Amino acid sequence: MSREHIEYGLAWKYDAARIQRALERSNVSLLAAFDRGSLVGFAMMEFGDERAHLVLMAVRPTHRRRGIGRRLLEWLVETALTAGIESLHLELRATNDAARRFYRALGFGETILVPRYYAGTESALRMVRVLRAPLPAQLTWQPPRHWC
Ligand SMILES: CC(C)(COP(=O)(O)OP(=O)(O)OC[C@H]1O[C@@H](n2cnc3c(N)ncnc32)[C@H](O)[C@@H]1OP(=O)(O)O)[C@@H](O)C(=O)NCCC(=O)NCCS
Repeated sequence: MSREHIEYGLAWKYDAARIQRALERSNVSLLAAFDRGSLVGFAMMEFGDERAHLVLMAVRPTHRRRGIGRRLLEWLVETALTAGIESLHLELRATNDAARRFYRALGFGETILVPRYYAGTESALRMVRVLRAPLPAQLTWQPPRHWC
């Protein structure tokens, strides 16, 4: 699904072996949606301490606009909220209007355009959804006890 619906026209990076390796890491969640036993959608998110990154997401064309993408992403947002994540990040082809509208509908906003991000030719659009205000920075520097 990644090759057909996300990476089309680019070298295929997210093959089965790579997805398998990602799944072996405890900070990666992958959701799959099935219709009568057939895979119709999936989403993969990688979690850091403060930020999470939506790595891949697709729904088969036959099953789009039925709320499957929304359900997958909302589940991941809920997981991120439970984990105390501050913000969700993703990038997509700048020309992918359908996905841009989808992410906007799910509360994401555009941040920057990255020229030639994909294979040195196609631009990417970065989007973010802030889940909570940042925590105060931990100050490691302390003034000396006897200042003067
Ligand atoms: C983006 C994608 C995952 C959306 O999945 P989906 O299951 O069709 O999305 P949903 O049905 O849950 O849509 C939720 C809302 O998003 C918006 N939306 C989704 N697709 C849209 C489109 N083509 N045009 C405009 N708005 C759209 C709508 O507001 C929609 O709500 P509505 O149907 O009640 O109007 C799907 O189009 C897809 O797989 N695209 C190809 C792969 C891709 O581009 N992945 C993302 C980049 S990595």
